[in-house]
Amino acid sequence: MSRMSRTDRPYDLVLFGATGFVGTLTAHYLAAHAPRDLRWAVAGRDEGRLERLREDLPGGADVAVLRADVTEPATLRALAEHARVVATTVGPYVLYGEELVAACADTGADYLDLTGEPEFVDLMYVRHDARARETGARLVHACGFDSVPHDLGAYFTVRQLPEGVPLTVDGYVTADAAFSGGTLASALNQMARGRRMLAAARERARHEPRLPGRRVTAPAGTPRYAAEVGAWALPLPTIDPRIVRRSARALERYGPDFRYRHYAAVRRLPVALGGVAAVGAVAAAAQLPPVRRWLSDRLKPGDGPSARKRAESWFSVRFVGEGGGRRVLTEVAGGDPGYDETAKMFAEAALCLAFDDLPPTAGQVTTAQAMGDALTERLRAAGITFRVAARR
Ligand SMILES: NC(=O)c1ccc[n+]([C@@H]2O[C@H](COP(=O)([O-])OP(=O)(O)OC[C@H]3O[C@@H](n4cnc5c(N)ncnc54)[C@H](OP(=O)(O)O)[C@@H]3O)[C@@H](O)[C@H]2O)c1
Repeated sequence: MSRMSRTDRPYDLVLFGATGFVGTLTAHYLAAHAPRDLRWAVAGRDEGRLERLREDLPGGADVAVLRADVTEPATLRALAEHARVVATTVGPYVLYGEELVAACADTGADYLDLTGEPEFVDLMYVRHDARARETGARLVHACGFDSVPHDLGAYFTVRQLPEGVPLTVDGYVTADAAFSGGTLASALNQMARGRRMLAAARERARHEPRLPGRRVTAPAGTPRYAAEVGAWALPLPTIDPRIVRRSARALERYGPDFRYRHYAAVRRLPVALGGVAAVGAVAAAAQLPPVRRWLSDRLKPGDGPSARKRAESWFSVRFVGEGGGRRVLTEVAGGDPGYDETAKMFAEAALCLAFDDLPPTAGQVTTAQAMGDALTERLRAAGITFRVAARR
């Protein structure tokens, strides 16, 4: 199916999960910032709540309401058939996400989500990448704080370095923020599925074509003091380094031999050690179903940090890139990473897929691969910093 044949669909963009915490923020962002002629709809399982959301949107936004439920696959198929782009916040994605990916891959609709779950991304690659390539659908996972600043930041850093030479990039994440019930549920669920995550990664590796003539790695790295950023660096095994690695595999610009390492940057050693201990304790506790339920009950789905807390929150990701005798320090920075900025990144990525002149891609693709410069420019215009801090 050509992309042209999708222009006769009634909606440019459908936002599924619009009544959730990030869904509501995303709907408000779109109502305030999308082009006036955007043909869009909010979708979810409760029509009454969708109607109330629509009434609350600023500027009397002209938006349709669609009912869809992950337990009724026909309703998801209808969303995909009626939209050029479907953006979903309905997670944990490994539990609720696959039917919509399948429907988008099959009908040629572009798809984006907010997953930070490597198992889900790997399984969707194995099961739906081939069909999406046939129909022309772009399946773009991790379009929030996981992994846009890291993926586009590494891409931005690479573009400051010489072409055709081996390159290394190290990313250092610092943030001050709180999280939502939906994020907690997804994180606990992922922590309890370690074996299944490894199995999915192995299955993906069996399907992924080899990379002839180029080498791309994302090793875990070791804890150390990183003088280049003046902080303790702790390896951060999130989905982000996997996404950066996939962008580097897809794009020749990352050079013949590319290595990316991903760290949390913490100024004081006791804080660093305390953080490692706390994450280890939660990961261990998440293996026990009753403890996992207790932890999950601390913050219900739909709950999240207040507007005041979000206004005080911020993030900064610094990158040190080297290669061809050059070294560059760059930064991607913004406000509340998990929610306000995630909603912005998610909405801008959806608009980017719908309207921008992008390189021809299809199948499972990353933000850098599908939208690189166009999405970077959109985010800059929307107030997220991408800058070169130093070079030599
Ligand atoms: N990448 C990132 O950086 C990032 C940042 C934030 C969040 N996230 C992820 O984004 C997801 C959403 O987070 P959140 O805080 O917005 O969570 P949330 O408030 O719990 O929202 C989840 C949404 O899923 C919907 N839903 C649940 N079951 C459904 C069903 N059977 N059919 C249709 N819809 C259903 C909910 O509908 P109702 O409104 O009707 O309950 C709600 O709209 C989570 O997976 C989270 O981990 C990622």
